[in-house]
Amino acid sequence: MSTVPPTPAAGAADPETRAADLRRVLADHAHRYYVLDEPQIPDAEYDRLFQELQAIEAAHPTLVTADSPTQRVIGAVLDGLDPVRHAVPMLSIHTETDTTPAGAQKFDARVRKALGLADDAPPLAYLAELKFDGLAINLRYEHGELVQAATRGDGETGEDVTHTVRMIATVPKRLRGAAATLAPVIEVRGEVFMRRDDFEALNERQRKLIDEGAKGEKTFVNPRNAAAGVVRQLDAGKAAKRPLSFFAYALGDVVGWDVPATQHGLGVALRAMGLPVNNDSERVLGADGLVRFHEAIAVRRDALPFDIDGVVYKLDDRAQQEQLGFKSREPRWAVAHKYPAQEQMTVVRDIDVQVGRTGKLTPVAKLEPVFVGGTTVSNATLHNEDETRRKDVRVGDTVIVRRAGDVIPEVVSVVLDPSTAQASPSSAQGERKERSEPFDLYQRLGGKCPICGSDIAREAEEVDWRCTGGLFCPAQRKQAILHFAQRRALDIEGLGDKLVDQLVDAGLIRTLPELYTLGLAKLIALERMGEKSAQNLLAGLAESKRTTLARFLYGLGIRHVGETTAKDLAKHFGSLDRLMDATEEQLLQVNDVGPIVAQSLHTFLRQPHNREVIEQLRAVGVTWEESEGTAGNAAPLPLAGKTFVLTGTLPTLGRDDAKDRIEAAGGKVSGSVSKKTHYVVAGEGAGSKLDKARELGVAVIDEAALLELLGSAHG
Ligand code: IVH
Repeated sequence: MSTVPPTPAAGAADPETRAADLRRVLADHAHRYYVLDEPQIPDAEYDRLFQELQAIEAAHPTLVTADSPTQRVIGAVLDGLDPVRHAVPMLSIHTETDTTPAGAQKFDARVRKALGLADDAPPLAYLAELKFDGLAINLRYEHGELVQAATRGDGETGEDVTHTVRMIATVPKRLRGAAATLAPVIEVRGEVFMRRDDFEALNERQRKLIDEGAKGEKTFVNPRNAAAGVVRQLDAGKAAKRPLSFFAYALGDVVGWDVPATQHGLGVALRAMGLPVNNDSERVLGADGLVRFHEAIAVRRDALPFDIDGVVYKLDDRAQQEQLGFKSREPRWAVAHKYPAQEQMTVVRDIDVQVGRTGKLTPVAKLEPVFVGGTTVSNATLHNEDETRRKDVRVGDTVIVRRAGDVIPEVVSVVLDPSTAQASPSSAQGERKERSEPFDLYQRLGGKCPICGSDIAREAEEVDWRCTGGLFCPAQRKQAILHFAQRRALDIEGLGDKLVDQLVDAGLIRTLPELYTLGLAKLIALERMGEKSAQNLLAGLAESKRTTLARFLYGLGIRHVGETTAKDLAKHFGSLDRLMDATEEQLLQVNDVGPIVAQSLHTFLRQPHNREVIEQLRAVGVTWEESEGTAGNAAPLPLAGKTFVLTGTLPTLGRDDAKDRIEAAGGKVSGSVSKKTHYVVAGEGAGSKLDKARELGVAVIDEAALLELLGSAHG
């Protein structure tokens, strides 16, 4: 494939040197994958390098070494987890990388030949299963009791992960049924994996933790990597919060139990014992049956809740399996038939920024088109600016893109030295050849929304930059109209999301005021719009014009201005003009308005577009009653705009008492310490919040100092 950076300099070296290079590089990547749980290249790239080595060794058998990755099951034992010697080795299966039907046909032909079947003999029965993309685990049950769980490791020796596997809800601690209880040993093998939704949620949480400054946290590149990380966690409690799933599909050591005569029967028996067995597997006949299964699953692949990288075919009859036996430690009776990889390497041509429905600005990598997860991908999300910088994705970089399921394709990581096969293991963190700069969203956009040209802003403690265009920005229009029309805002009867879509898509409404210039003729021209409903909408619109200042403010959809804040603002200023002229400091005087709200409101009201929309709404007849407002009457509150965190026991003030007083003085009380906290009020027995405050350099005060700040209102 021309889009993938060329696999390095094959042919430049003599076969012996090349084979040695490949072995070293493959060992390095295997270490990153199995031991560090931090793969640096996509599996597809690893497979390519592996196959190149296999080809060299096949052509030059004298070059094969005992330690070649082609000669053994790779994997290693991590320090900290106890080694477990497998009673029966955990083997791998042959992988058919030809993703066309030929892959299945070749397997069926091999099996028939090995069984010595005549060409006209009836088709063989197979069990076709999904190939789950997780990690293989051996569960050892003694008299029905789960006594140990181990990873595959190098196939002979794995790691004891009983503590984390016990946390998986669907792994039974006890098997059901008399047969299982009577059996001294039943080892069940299967795959531990993470569902895609669980993976997305986990990474979302990780991103948040990292943004909040948590140390030692990272995001995971894909569900399999996350599952491996969680299973090999030393801390079972932490593992418990990161949901894993399990499917059983094979046996290990068995003592005192009659193993069913077919692979299909095994699935039935395991299910009866209470083990989770995936029910997408199917008993099929002959090569045709295998091909049909492969194709049917390919169609459903994206809709599955978890990643698969292929399907597995197993000869159904166990007696026939035994007849076939093994070849170089792989069963002859089973094969893995792959699908196109869900991760590939490609090059970032540019980084664009897209505007979402709420004005959120998302950096998107424009890629050298690459075939991944079954389609050609040329855009991949980078989530946000921080994430882009964390991964340090730059224009010109070689990156790994992942496209799995319905999830938007994403850039997983940068491959700093794409000529991997020439890199020595220690130089994997290579230098960029070209000069490039870390991504800077503001600079990239010149500070303006690429759709409407309004200023962009990123508020403190927010990860996303946003377009401040609000009502004016077409990308945000539909959302804004719906918000404006909702019951608690202008309450426009008859205006729902379908109609808003229609109106905006037909170009009838570009800004909120245009709602009020809609005429009957235009409405009736819309699809599925009768005269009666058009009349109703017009009546609803007319009625909505008489409103209140609070509803109007809330309806504008200003970030951080919810219903309560809108009411407080209306009460405080009494008039829209006074509010529009207020400085940030004056806004901070309003009950419950802190720096975030004040800044958001102030920015919104400074945008000429927004002021224009407000003027036009008034011009088309949206009205409310104004009042004097309470602003002039109150002395400025002493703690306006200040955020406090309370920790420990204060000498005289109860926690609620302290909170009430701070709030009455215009301050805010928050539950956690961040860079934005102004004061941490510490009392007896203060713990982690105090540490955090010291770490972040936040002012720590005692009760006496708090009372002082409150204006000595004590007593
Ligand atoms: S059977 C002797 N069935 O793929 C046969 N393996 O290289 C043992 N895998 O290590 C494996 N889904 O981690 C089998 N339905 C399935 C599977 C499956 C995923 C994994 C497993 C194994 C590797 C095969």
